[in-house]
Amino acid sequence: MTAAQHPTLWLTGLSGAGKTSIALALAQALKAQGHAATVLDGDQLRHGLNRDLGFTPEDRHENIRRTAEVARLMNEAGLIVIAAFISPYRSDRAMAGAIIGAERYVEVHVSTPLAVCEARDVKGLYAKARAGQLAQFTGVSAPYEAPLDAALTLDTQALALEESVERICLYLKQRQQQ
Ligand code: ADX
Repeated sequence: MTAAQHPTLWLTGLSGAGKTSIALALAQALKAQGHAATVLDGDQLRHGLNRDLGFTPEDRHENIRRTAEVARLMNEAGLIVIAAFISPYRSDRAMAGAIIGAERYVEVHVSTPLAVCEARDVKGLYAKARAGQLAQFTGVSAPYEAPLDAALTLDTQALALEESVERICLYLKQRQQQ
C-alpha cells in the first residue's frame, strides 16, 4: 500500500457551499467501490473532539490542526478520509497539508459563490450574521481565503451532487495510476 492509496480529501468552502453533502455521497460511492472511507465534518467534530473551540482565527487554527492529526492517523490505518471544513485560512490549510503529508493531502475547493450559499441559508446562519446576531461569520464578518492551487474546484451551483462525486472519483483513479 502506498500513501497515495489512502488520501485525505480536504473539502474547503463557505458554510452552505455543499461540502457535507459531497463528503457523505463520496464516502458512500467509495465504500460501494470497496474502499474504506470515512467523513470528518466540522459541525460533527465541533460537537465532540472540538467542542471547546469557537470561531476566532486561533480556534479555527486549532480545529484544523486537531482534525489534520486525526485524518493522518486514519490514513495510516488504511482509510480514505474526507474532511469537510470551512478552513478559511490558507495558512491553516497549508498546515493541514503538512501534517497529513503532501502525498496524501488533496485540496478540493467547493467554490459555490457566497450569494448562492446565502440564498440557500439552510441553517439560517447568514440571516443571523447579517442581523449582527452571529459574530465572525465566514463570508459576512470573517474572511474566506479561496485556494490558489486546489486539485479540484467544484461549484455546486453548476454541478449536480452526482457530478461532483464523479469528478472526485475520476481524479482519485487518475491519481492512483500515476
Ligand atoms: S472552520 O472555519 O473552523 O473550518 P467548521 O467547518 O469547523 O469551521 O465549522 C463551520 C460550521 O459551524 C458552519 O457550517 C456553521 O454551521 C457553524 N458556524 C457557527 N458559527 C460560525 C461562524 N461564526 N463562522 C462559520 N461557521 C459557523
